Amino acid sequence: MTPTVLFMAAEGKPDPWRDAFLAQMPGVDFRVWNPDPEKDQTGDKSEIDYAIVWKPAAGVLASLPNLKAVFSMGAGVDHLFGDPELPKDVPLVRLVDRCLTQGMSEYVIYWVIHYHRKMGVYAKFRADNVWKRMRQADAEQRRVGILGLGELGGDAATKLVPLHYQVAGWSRSKKEIPGVESFHGEDQLIPFLNRTEILVCLLPLTPDTTGIINKDTLAALPEGAFIINCARGGHVVDDDLLAALDSGHIEGATLDVFHTEPLPADHPYWSHPKVTITPHMASLTVPNSSTEWYVKNIERMERGEAPLNTVDRGTRY
Ligand code: GLV
Repeated sequence: MTPTVLFMAAEGKPDPWRDAFLAQMPGVDFRVWNPDPEKDQTGDKSEIDYAIVWKPAAGVLASLPNLKAVFSMGAGVDHLFGDPELPKDVPLVRLVDRCLTQGMSEYVIYWVIHYHRKMGVYAKFRADNVWKRMRQADAEQRRVGILGLGELGGDAATKLVPLHYQVAGWSRSKKEIPGVESFHGEDQLIPFLNRTEILVCLLPLTPDTTGIINKDTLAALPEGAFIINCARGGHVVDDDLLAALDSGHIEGATLDVFHTEPLPADHPYWSHPKVTITPHMASLTVPNSSTEWYVKNIERMERGEAPLNTVDRGTRY
């Protein structure tokens, strides 16, 4: 029997996922949850085997008595914990999507090079019709630091190494990535920041990492450092970052994620000359490649094997 999959993403359009599922798992019973009972296709709740979700509505997952696994539609799983009734005995599966990983590394590399080569300054020169050159920096002297060396941070770090940057990463436990200096644990956060000129945040958002980019950690970065946040808005204390940008201690920030999204029209980031904003597009989940991951895991589970990359509910990633 082919399984029944419930797609539950209020913001996402189901059609590309349905097409991908039908192509990759012919015969799958693909149903789409909708808060409007007129449009909801859940049907008999006891028939739902797997749920593919983004920001699940409170209590819906708990109402599915035979649910075998919950698949996150994003690399981050913090959105799952927004459901106060998240079922306790059902595995939660992180998304490892080759296109999502690639897209994130592209975003990181793009902005690292942007800051390293002072492209923002050249854009300003251009706007003023100024022909001027600055001294070219040496990648071997440029210290990039990645907060979070998981699937995404690890890939970005690995790909920065052959570009000759001095790459380090900070994570909860020590990581072995060739060419990447590993800092770990609370004690090594400040030494990691002290050596980091371009800081990239790719941490999971958990109670431990909320507000990790704050006045103390910003102060630990060298004068003139840059921030690239493509994880979650909750990692940053906005007022602290704005103060560090205004004081000149932080030279620029590229922010893809915010406490409130879309970023409210009156937020000071919009008008700040040192802030670049992108609309949570650093890397998007691609229907085809993410479905490869869901199908691979569903097939494993249907064979009686455990799913890959399950979430640890203690650490919340
Ligand atoms: C997007 O924010 C994701 O978690 O993949």
